[in-house]
Amino acid sequence: MKVLVIGSGGREHALAWKLKQSPRVTQVFCAPGNGGIAQDATCVPIRITEHAALIEFAQREGIALTVVGPDDALAAGIVDHFQAAGLRAFGPTQRAAQLESSKVFAKDFMVRHGIPCARSASFDDPIAAQAYAQKIGAPMVVKADGLALGKGVLICHSQGEAARAIYDIMERRAFGEAGRRIVIEEFLEGEECSIHALVDGRSYLMFPGAQDHKRALDGDEGLNTGGMGTFSPPAHLLTPELEQRVRTDVLDRFISGLAKDGLDFRGMLFPGLMITRDGLRVLEFNCRFGDPETQVLLTRLDSDFLALLEATIDQQLAQVSAQWKPDAAVCVVMASGGYPGKYATGLPIAGLDASEALVFHAGTRREDSGIVTAGGRVLGVTALGPTLAAARDRAYAAVAKIHFEGSQHRSDIAAKGLRA
Ligand code: AMP
Ligand code: GLY
Repeated sequence: MKVLVIGSGGREHALAWKLKQSPRVTQVFCAPGNGGIAQDATCVPIRITEHAALIEFAQREGIALTVVGPDDALAAGIVDHFQAAGLRAFGPTQRAAQLESSKVFAKDFMVRHGIPCARSASFDDPIAAQAYAQKIGAPMVVKADGLALGKGVLICHSQGEAARAIYDIMERRAFGEAGRRIVIEEFLEGEECSIHALVDGRSYLMFPGAQDHKRALDGDEGLNTGGMGTFSPPAHLLTPELEQRVRTDVLDRFISGLAKDGLDFRGMLFPGLMITRDGLRVLEFNCRFGDPETQVLLTRLDSDFLALLEATIDQQLAQVSAQWKPDAAVCVVMASGGYPGKYATGLPIAGLDASEALVFHAGTRREDSGIVTAGGRVLGVTALGPTLAAARDRAYAAVAKIHFEGSQHRSDIAAKGLRA
């Protein structure tokens, strides 16, 4: 059967790469894809916002399953549109995807169903928001309700910063309509952990944990990014006891909450957790695969990925299981110099052919001369190893052989997992 992946990043490269290995998949397409995805899939130049054109393509090609990567496509109702056209698409509907696209919706859901999270309140009135901020005191976190390209969360260390953040988001509309409402919540201290679970509305299938590195520089310094690297499993953090808590306090309650609210969620649920001294707290629900979490998770997956996605859509997750390689996986992101600020593109990338690791392309383009850079995050160099240290060493050995002008990467990916 033919499958279509929607998106153009490293996550979508990993999705396409894994789907290609499925015995029942004859051809993988990716819209729009990128220079590296073209090695594993047929790239189709249709943008993710062009739903009608994507549907027309899927119908013409006889695509049996479309897998949606990015959150904004889900929030725009791409799965609803595919379903209305009689096409199968993996991912939640627009209504269910509000669990990611509206932080107010997500917090209400968590509170209503007893899912542990930071104490918070939601506001559509800046004066009431300012009064609450005065009351709870710094540090606190001010969040724009809607999607803001990962920039709508402001950590405020003083009352002044909080006042400014509320003004910027609600009155100056720094993130546009996403800032019509805000959530203000207590600042939580701890270590973050990425959970992934396929959810079919009745049951779930939990993946191994992963840990992302969101800051640009070593030691978690510098600006926030889309993610500079990941590893799995984060055994130092996600102990068997904590994993059991994730099941009982987050996933079980999520499933029963869906039933109580009459919410049809079928897709990937990716809760971002903060592990605090007082236990786990859900920071956010993402309704899609993480990037670059997907790169390490799918590298470790030892089962037919297509079958898992189909079981999710068909509400058969209780009948399937997934096998995972015992190996650890590490993904090191190579980014353009200057990222997450301004950076150059079009720079030739050398050393890709010699690589012994899996190289998932995030921001690349194919030109007659070869592969060149085309984005902030350029490559996700991913390796497996019998231990986390071995996987880390393999990934970095591969990074050392790849070159483009100005390339930057963190040199401490997986260090937290190795310190213990
Ligand atoms: P979110 O989009 O809500 O996950 O927020 C993005 C990032 O902001 C998270 O990955 C955390 O690093 C940080 N963050 C969000 N909420 C909190 C909180 N209540 N306390 C501390 N850090 C937070
Ligand atoms: N790696 C974090 C995310 O995909 O949101």
